[in-house]
Amino acid sequence: MSRSPLITRTVPALRRAVDNLRKRKATVALVPTMGALHDGHVSLVRLAKRRASRVVVSIFVNPTQFAPTEDFGAYPRTWKTDIAKLAAEDVDIVWHPGVEAMYPEGFATRVVPEGPALAGLEDRFRPHFFGGVATVVGKLFTQCRPDVAIFGEKDFQQLRVVTQMARDLDLGVKVIGSRTVREPDGLAMSSRNVYLSPEERQTSTTLYRAMKDSARRIQAGEAIASAMARGAEMIEAAGFALD
Ligand code: PAF
Repeated sequence: MSRSPLITRTVPALRRAVDNLRKRKATVALVPTMGALHDGHVSLVRLAKRRASRVVVSIFVNPTQFAPTEDFGAYPRTWKTDIAKLAAEDVDIVWHPGVEAMYPEGFATRVVPEGPALAGLEDRFRPHFFGGVATVVGKLFTQCRPDVAIFGEKDFQQLRVVTQMARDLDLGVKVIGSRTVREPDGLAMSSRNVYLSPEERQTSTTLYRAMKDSARRIQAGEAIASAMARGAEMIEAAGFALD
């Protein structure tokens, strides 16, 4: 039978709950999320359960990683179904702070990641993004003080950024990557897939086919640049504007 996780909304309440687990010699895994949970998140929780005896899932749509032109207001929020999914996975604690708990008035400190955060990938198009992610993940780590934290490989640059930050700042958290979970036709599961029109949803599968095709070519000995150029052609021919 599934039981509802304990829901905490303030840092002292979260700390008390985690301390109680620790008193019982538990090891703790944190799965940071922005909610709108899908099977990809469920796979993160399942990996967390294999790596620690207790699991905390944070649900916080983090305003500092959205540019003013992005979808902070529209980002899907599905609280009730999220909690039902976490209960079914027997998650112990949900950390669900409000914006005022995370960024109280007068908040004035930000983490500015370098290294993998400046690789010229997503950072080129979303310059605000990794600073916002590193700041909130740094806070989540110090609020919860988990032994391990699980992040999806889908956001590969993010995974590299938080791994580097945990190491550089001696946060005492082992960051573990988890394989991407895909729809049967290859589209990576993502909370934002709900934005796709039926036509876009159909076209989206080209992305995975192009990646597989490029990987196959590279494995067969083709030069990386040429395999990537072929992949880019496939994606653009399907109607994508390539970043
Ligand atoms: O990947 C996400 O959902 C977010 O970027 C994260 C890691 C929860 C930080 O807000």
